[in-house]
Amino acid sequence: MGSVAADHFERLYRVHADPWHVGSAWYERRKRGLLLACLGREHYAHAFEPGCGGGDLTRRLAQRCGRVCAVDVAGSAVARCRARLAAGGIANVDVLTLDLPRRWPAIPPGGFDLIVVSELAYYLDDASLGAFLAALDASLAAGGELAACHWLAPFDDRVQPTDAVHDALAALPGLSPAVLHREEQFRLDLWRRRP
Ligand SMILES: C[S@@+](CC[C@H](N)C(=O)[O-])C[C@H]1O[C@@H](n2cnc3c(N)ncnc32)[C@H](O)[C@@H]1O
Repeated sequence: MGSVAADHFERLYRVHADPWHVGSAWYERRKRGLLLACLGREHYAHAFEPGCGGGDLTRRLAQRCGRVCAVDVAGSAVARCRARLAAGGIANVDVLTLDLPRRWPAIPPGGFDLIVVSELAYYLDDASLGAFLAALDASLAAGGELAACHWLAPFDDRVQPTDAVHDALAALPGLSPAVLHREEQFRLDLWRRRP
């Protein structure tokens, strides 16, 4: 099976602006609060958020980061994310339409000091996941933090098990675990790269 195709996500966003109810569901809001609470620093210079969707997490990250690079493969999600940021007067986010890992954003000098992979990497097939991991490795600054959060249960368009994704992230060079959280429905881990 290949990675889940870009047009699959575009179709979902055209049917419903928030296909996973990320903005409204208590499960999603609680998970987002937990993720934000797990980030070790109050402030980051430059964060990368692959698979940003409509920007619910992006808006919160923007409050704690000098700059955020938010990327999604679905043009409709990117448009919604941009519009919501603009409506909130948030100007420190670059929102890009890219099919990761085939296309990758510019990496700031020294790398991103925060990368948040939330509910994305289980859509990638083995080859894409390998390339995604290599690109994350090249993108994470020394001393930077890598957070990942993924649902555990099976679902139709899942390509990778969540544990396989998180175990592969944990094996990236120079990472030390800072938060290892697993509960009934999701796994949330944060690793810090040694300086
Ligand atoms: C389940 S949603 C998660 C949204 C958000 N990260 C969250 O946790 O609420 C997955 C998002 O990843 C995006 N996505 C999936 N595959 C992608 C890829 N190869 N490159 C960039 N974005 C992708 C989808 O369009 C969708 O917005």
